[in-house]
Amino acid sequence: MTSSFKTQPEIDFQSEAYKDAYSRINAIAIVGEQLAFENFLQLAQLLPQYDKPLLQLAKVENRHKKSFQACGKNLNVIPDLHFAWNFFAALHHNFRVAVDRRQVVTCLLIQALIIECFAIAAYSIYVPVADDFARQITETVILDEQAHLNFGEAWLKRHFDTSRAELKHANQANLPLIWQMLNQVEADVCAIGIDKAAIAETFMMHYGDALGNIGFSTREILQLSAHGLATPTCRLTEEVSLDLG
Ligand SMILES: [Fe+2]
Ligand SMILES: [Fe+2]
Repeated sequence: MTSSFKTQPEIDFQSEAYKDAYSRINAIAIVGEQLAFENFLQLAQLLPQYDKPLLQLAKVENRHKKSFQACGKNLNVIPDLHFAWNFFAALHHNFRVAVDRRQVVTCLLIQALIIECFAIAAYSIYVPVADDFARQITETVILDEQAHLNFGEAWLKRHFDTSRAELKHANQANLPLIWQMLNQVEADVCAIGIDKAAIAETFMMHYGDALGNIGFSTREILQLSAHGLATPTCRLTEEVSLDLG
């Protein structure tokens, strides 16, 4: 008689296949946290009346970066930072353009909603298949990312009437990038025991909740969340054509 308990398959954290995939996944976490640190510093300049909380958020992101660097070291993995900088290039470019144009709403949508929801989703799905060291760190990081998402939601809720149009435009320009990014790492997330579809579903759940908390109607949430989802998230062969410069 087979056990009814659902058990995770054994993961060999020291296998070459795991370490190869982890070199890119770990680098994405490190560079993602570095960019979050820089983005909150930029936001503190754009919103000087909120510079104290934003500088505090930046400080936390820098701590996350160090924690994920420790996760790589713990498994003797050298993070492929070049890959990770390319991975974020298009989203980072859009954030920088928004900073230059002083588009605070777009900056908040990219960092405090999209990136934070993506981090919460990816980290949450990673926790059950992580090594012991990384699991403990990642569980703590998720709580922080939730607080960062809440900051963005609260600001955008207070300024919803004047932000609505820019949010829709920024969503259309940036949400498709998330699906492209996720497709790009499908094989790597699979190699470390993660189902890409589970990340996508969890992201949609958090992002939809965030849009609702800000003030969008259910109909608008469905329209906004569908941008960039014209191609199924599980298509393996799709060519990702990010202009990485
Ligand atoms: Fe973070
Ligand atoms: Fe964060």
